Amino acid sequence: MAFELLIRGGTVWLPEGARNVDVAVIDGRIAALGAPGVLSAATVLDAHGLHVLPGVIDTHVHFREPGMEHKEDLATGSQAAVLGGVTAVCEMPNTIPATTTAKALTDKLDRAQGRMACDYAFFLGATADNVDSLAMWEQMAGCAGVKIFMGKSTGTLLVEDNAMLSRILSSCRRRVAVHCEDESRLRERHALVHESGLPTLHALWRDAETAFLATKRILKIARKLNRKIHILHVSTQKEISLLMNNRDIATFEITPHHLTLSAPECYYHLGTLSQVNPPIRAKYHQDALWTAVNEGLVDCLGSDHAPHTLAEKAKLYPTSPSGIPGVQTLVPVMLTHIAAGRLSLAQFVALTSAGPARLYAIAAKGYIAVGFDADFTIVDLKARRTIDSPWLASRCGWSPFEGMTVTGFPIFTIIRGHLIMRDGCVLTPENGSPLRFQEV
Ligand code: DOR
Ligand code: ZN
Repeated sequence: MAFELLIRGGTVWLPEGARNVDVAVIDGRIAALGAPGVLSAATVLDAHGLHVLPGVIDTHVHFREPGMEHKEDLATGSQAAVLGGVTAVCEMPNTIPATTTAKALTDKLDRAQGRMACDYAFFLGATADNVDSLAMWEQMAGCAGVKIFMGKSTGTLLVEDNAMLSRILSSCRRRVAVHCEDESRLRERHALVHESGLPTLHALWRDAETAFLATKRILKIARKLNRKIHILHVSTQKEISLLMNNRDIATFEITPHHLTLSAPECYYHLGTLSQVNPPIRAKYHQDALWTAVNEGLVDCLGSDHAPHTLAEKAKLYPTSPSGIPGVQTLVPVMLTHIAAGRLSLAQFVALTSAGPARLYAIAAKGYIAVGFDADFTIVDLKARRTIDSPWLASRCGWSPFEGMTVTGFPIFTIIRGHLIMRDGCVLTPENGSPLRFQEV
């Protein structure tokens, strides 16, 4: 058999665990797994000493196009992704205009064509105006599903009341992703931070109860309607306890920033650069998130890559925007946690490939197995690097992890058999294709 590409000599993370096998690729798909040295191909990639992981899928990024290209666009965001070892992204709808119509979704897909380095899909934002069309539009090719903002964050998307939430959940067939912060509580408590200039108050304003109340409310509605939901960026101890008892209907995501930064220290060191919704919270919340990771409760890691410029972040809190870039640092930051013994590489693989593929029903991705897309995140677990600004590709130009010395780094990013990134260089910035889904 004439294989096009052979990844030789690496430790390969198959569904059953790590094995020393060579991986052969034809036509962008995994064609064979062979004992070391047996298979051959026109192009051979030497992976000795490296771990070959299924391609990392980041199902939560904000790439800002259209409307806020001064912060990021589909090209720069996706280049940041592949430099960080991410092979596919699902992009959020709070752009300008928001992705709330079939036309806006088609526009994003048109813009993405030939301009993205990684594979992609786009979320539709739910509003009171489009609820009757969501069921139809969520079936469009390249659509990741529907997202609801229960609390206002960057942009204007918001669905507050139970009646409307029920209508959305009962009409959508696919798993709906939800940003859970209770808008009425946010309004009530806004006086706590108004003109304060104190980002340390962010987690007091948008407190744990704000997140908990919204998560509890959407779970109740989903339970009543027997619908599947996905809770984004879970950040509190109480939400974890609730989600533990709703495994049959709800999946959930945790972010690297909530696992890595904690309050109040982050606000002293980073100020508004650590301002994000939901907020970075006290250590005991972070400990609960780690326990959930280690107990196998968490379904996926998402970066919630949400870039803003340094000038915007320099505004007086709370007029400064919330959001932290993270698509490029997800892999090295999490590998560093692995090196420190906080989670296993097997857990990381489950949270970044099989997990996202399963919960959104992404077709042909998520595993290294014959017939699946040849997407690989190839990492050196021992590499020590410092996250620095020349490496960062996001147009926002900064990271809360700048200056951090990481242990473990992405060396190659391969997407459908194409070598897209090699050791800090994007080789092919225009190869991205829309994700396919099983349930559409
Ligand atoms: O902090 C956040 N920033 N949270 C969100 O939900 C939106 C995001 C953004 O788009 O800036
Ligand atoms: Zn987000």
